[in-house]
Amino acid sequence: MRQVICNAADLPAGEMLAANLGPMPIVVVRTEDGQLYGVLDKCLHMGGRLSKGRLQRAVDGRECGEYHEESGRFVLKCPWHGYEYDVRTGATLFDESRRLTTFAVREENGQIVAETNGRASA
Ligand code: FES
Repeated sequence: MRQVICNAADLPAGEMLAANLGPMPIVVVRTEDGQLYGVLDKCLHMGGRLSKGRLQRAVDGRECGEYHEESGRFVLKCPWHGYEYDVRTGATLFDESRRLTTFAVREENGQIVAETNGRASA
């Protein structure tokens, strides 16, 4: 499944937006370095809407949420109880094996397009 999400100009760097890819709620993120990512908009804990959460860039040597950050990754924090996810992989910071479904997101002809990667499910 492939779908246009929005015009590229509608998602500036450092922002995220909620969208639907078919029946699935997703969060599309453009990180401060301009990369695009998509994850399921449903926290692994109790289903909180991650699109209502906070996107932050971890800085080497500083604390990011409850974790000492070393990689400079971009972290999406659930607004309900604080689960934190690496937006690049969908993995929780506390357990790399617990991962959100991720989606391929790219810019095409001035539009942001999301696509399932073949494993997606709501
Ligand atoms: S629902 Fe996201 S941390 Fe609880």
